[in-house]
Amino acid sequence: MVNETPESRVLDLGCGTGRLALGMAAVGHAVTGVDPARASLAAARAKPGADRVTWIEGTSPILPSSAFDIAVMTSHVAQFFVDDTEWQRALADLRRSLVPGGRLVFDTRDPRAREWEQWNPIDSRFRVTLPDTREVEAWTEVTAVQDGRVSFTMHYRFSDREQLQSTATLRFRTDDEVRISLDGEGFSIEQMYGGWNRLPVGSGDGEFLVVAVRR
Ligand SMILES: C[S@@+](CC[C@H](N)C(=O)[O-])C[C@H]1O[C@@H](n2cnc3c(N)ncnc32)[C@H](O)[C@@H]1O
Repeated sequence: MVNETPESRVLDLGCGTGRLALGMAAVGHAVTGVDPARASLAAARAKPGADRVTWIEGTSPILPSSAFDIAVMTSHVAQFFVDDTEWQRALADLRRSLVPGGRLVFDTRDPRAREWEQWNPIDSRFRVTLPDTREVEAWTEVTAVQDGRVSFTMHYRFSDREQLQSTATLRFRTDDEVRISLDGEGFSIEQMYGGWNRLPVGSGDGEFLVVAVRR
């Protein structure tokens, strides 16, 4: 979608460790990656090609005005705006940061797919080997499901016996909630798909891929 316009001015909000931001910059787009997680940005800045991206630590209030042709939020960043007032605020900031006619593209999981039911110590368990040869076993455990919000703990057990945990809460919005929130902040929905393969909602990957346009 970004490549539909060569040399786009792109915002990657919630860019994390920059895998998408770096890919877009490598093909000639002017990319700004914004994320509140300092450690993730440090990892992004250390990657090859990182100097082609403008990295900003922060979240939506920090965005410049009328600066981007397209804004993306990938890997369910939208669900990290748990509080609905916070989500509306982020949408208003995103709208402000886009040029008129600019597009906002993001994914968010479809609550009907109930993906959190697989976030248990058995189904979610996986292992990875780190560059320093240590192995990590990781799994997720849901701690609460209430009012469209799912709280969970991620567990990491390293082969040298170190153990870490991180907790988070994600907001699962219905397609109606997504539509109403976008409309309320001056976006028109161009398309809503059932995921990045652009299948219809309900028959895709258990998520929505939303393409909205700044009115
Ligand atoms: C699952 S990661 C996705 C990272 C990246 N977009 C990707 O596709 O690899 C979610 C990211 O959202 C970021 N995030 C959490 N709260 C945020 C907020 N209020 N504003 C912007 N980003 C946020 C996290 O720090 C994290 O980097």
